[in-house]
Amino acid sequence: MIKTINRAGRREFMLAAGALAGASFFPKPARAQSAKIKLGLMLPYSGTFAQLGTAIENGLRLALDQGGGKLGGREVEFFKVDDESDPSKATDNANRLITRDKVDVLIGSVHSGVAMGMVKVARESGTLTLIPNAGADAATGPLCSSNVFRTSFSNWQPVHPLGKVMAGKGHKKAVFITWKYAAGEESLASFKEGFTAAGGEVVKELFLPFPNVEFQALLTEIAAIKPDAVACFFAGGGAVKFVKDYAAAGLKDKIPLYGSGFLTEGVLAAQGEAAEGLMTTLHYADSLDLPRNKSFRSAYAKTYKAEADVYSVQGYDTGLLLIQALGQVKGDVGNIKAVVTAMESAVIDSPRGQWKMSKAHNPVQDIYLRRVEKGDNKVIGVAWKALEDPARGCKLG
Ligand code: PHB
Repeated sequence: MIKTINRAGRREFMLAAGALAGASFFPKPARAQSAKIKLGLMLPYSGTFAQLGTAIENGLRLALDQGGGKLGGREVEFFKVDDESDPSKATDNANRLITRDKVDVLIGSVHSGVAMGMVKVARESGTLTLIPNAGADAATGPLCSSNVFRTSFSNWQPVHPLGKVMAGKGHKKAVFITWKYAAGEESLASFKEGFTAAGGEVVKELFLPFPNVEFQALLTEIAAIKPDAVACFFAGGGAVKFVKDYAAAGLKDKIPLYGSGFLTEGVLAAQGEAAEGLMTTLHYADSLDLPRNKSFRSAYAKTYKAEADVYSVQGYDTGLLLIQALGQVKGDVGNIKAVVTAMESAVIDSPRGQWKMSKAHNPVQDIYLRRVEKGDNKVIGVAWKALEDPARGCKLG
């Protein structure tokens, strides 16, 4: 039925029907080109990922400030919701930003489950949507959409090289431990794929509900299994507690711990000695020897009196992408088709190294092998050059 009505008619239909009120796949109702561009931030500002949400917003604001504070010549206005990393509130939160605040661009989120709710709304409404963290594979896989772009990673990406790294260190039997939700499960699947292909075996998969941090029973189980190594996905507050508990249980010196690099991002000061020596794979590292990284880190530290991390880089790159694309369309954010074309061909000169969008709208990027040394994520090498998510099931491009 929707297919049979024209663009303007479709909008009226939706408003009249009360279904997804205000959702418009196509140009917003004529707003003067001089009006502010509205950015809707749907990020966690509370809970275990609170710090991650703030880092993303900080990075985004830094990029915009450095770009003169405007997008395509237009002032910018922010609208924010705390998504609480709660998937059950995701659709309502996204709809609120779109229908109540009438944002031009939806930006979020951190949590994969929340992102899935957002992507659903983005696909139905046609709102231009940028994902500055959440790795949910489907967002740039079976549920990919021309109006949805990711500036971070897919869950498949950072851990894909980790199996090969661990097998290369002689580890044959590994335990994987994580939270039972999309990001944990997809990280495990990707790790298993890489580790098995390299001759390893995942002998046990251990889960706890998100965002629980009662690790004791599972650590006791790991001690009993005595694998060659442990791999994991944890992030934010949960990652602090896991790394400290792992060391406190006496496992750190007996069974080497690895992870996707989120394990040690933005949390090294809190983890302290317990994190020293941990090896992880990720699309960023503090110590990347790139002029762009150095200037970014010093500007970030000066502005926010905090160390930059992968989350702030992803926020920053979201800003760079907006600056580039909206500059190209001279601020005409309502011309989604032109904005999409601009984003598809953007080259992002990022602190993580230069990257471009894949056909499925996910960064094609280097994955670094890092080791924690004296409270820093030091780069040891490139674990995988220009890694592209397989985008299984995506029909774009
Ligand atoms: C996710 O839920 O996709 C997620 C959350 C935190 C991270 C990485 C991925 O650090």
